[in-house]
Amino acid sequence: MASTEDKAASKENTSSWKDSIYNPRTGELLGRTAGSWALILLFYLVFYCFLAGMFALTMWVMLLTLDDYVPRYRDRIPNPGLVIRPNSLDISFNKSDPHKYAQYVKNLESFLQRYNDTEQEGNEDCISGEYTLQEDGEGVSKKACRFRRALLSFCSGLSDTNFGYHEGNPCVLLKMNRIIGLKPHGDPYINCTVKKDNLVQMHYFPKEGRFDKMYFPYYGKKAHEKYVQPLVAVKLMLTKEDYNKELTVECKVEGSDLRNNDERDKFLGRVTFRIKVVE
Ligand SMILES: *[C@@H]1O[C@H](CO)[C@@H](O)[C@H](O)[C@H]1NC(C)=O
Ligand SMILES: *[C@@H]1O[C@H](CO)[C@@H](O)[C@H](O)[C@H]1NC(C)=O
Ligand SMILES: *[C@@H]1O[C@H](CO)[C@@H](O)[C@H](O)[C@H]1NC(C)=O
Repeated sequence: MASTEDKAASKENTSSWKDSIYNPRTGELLGRTAGSWALILLFYLVFYCFLAGMFALTMWVMLLTLDDYVPRYRDRIPNPGLVIRPNSLDISFNKSDPHKYAQYVKNLESFLQRYNDTEQEGNEDCISGEYTLQEDGEGVSKKACRFRRALLSFCSGLSDTNFGYHEGNPCVLLKMNRIIGLKPHGDPYINCTVKKDNLVQMHYFPKEGRFDKMYFPYYGKKAHEKYVQPLVAVKLMLTKEDYNKELTVECKVEGSDLRNNDERDKFLGRVTFRIKVVE
């Protein structure tokens, strides 16, 4: 038989459990009075405001030391990496099937939008073969040298909108990464070779695959807003014997003091990609 004592005990238990959340007799919430809670909240409020203030102050002091125009910490001017477009190191397509090379053509076309005459209208004609040195100084906008898309000739996408992919002589564009203040000595040009097969002919645009000095130095994203990197296009004159084979092509920047043989960095001044054409 359940005793009435048990019931009473359990009733007391629940009431003391409820009391620990809110005790109506003492007015305590979770064992503390309203005043005590207010003090705790006040303490944390002041504490966090203090932390936020400290953070904002150190951030502000640090930002004061930064310059919008030039990166602060740079011990020496690094060497640029070489990059190709289309954006793939493994180019493979069927020259008789437009669906297979459409992605490459699209990639090239969209990359070249910035080099359209309409986009380049505002840029200036600079003196070929000379650095375009400009007065330093904060807040001064630098002029940018015009790069005409037409310089890329058969690889410009203007006369041949398929960039040679439909005829099995695909174009690849090369550019160096932007490095602020870089002034390459000598006359940098691109030289591409097919590994284990030197018979593949290459056509370079502009002539001899040169990067004109007038596009250097670069003054930084903010100061040199309209800057465009010079491009070199390589058209691989593949023949029937080259189809159905995976060719490894290595392109290097030569003729200048730019490094292209760093053992640890395969993309410093050079790039290697594979290309396979089927028909
Ligand atoms: C390439 O595409 C053509 C046309 O669609 C097709 O006849 C041919 O078999 C394809 N070649 C290969 C190797 O897939
Ligand atoms: C750039 O030129 C190409 C070819 O003339 C044209 O199709 C494209 O619409 C142009 N793009 C811009 C942004 O002017
Ligand atoms: C391109 O590189 C190859 C292999 O390194 C070399 O034999 C050739 O002379 C170079 N061509 C030019 C124009 O530098």
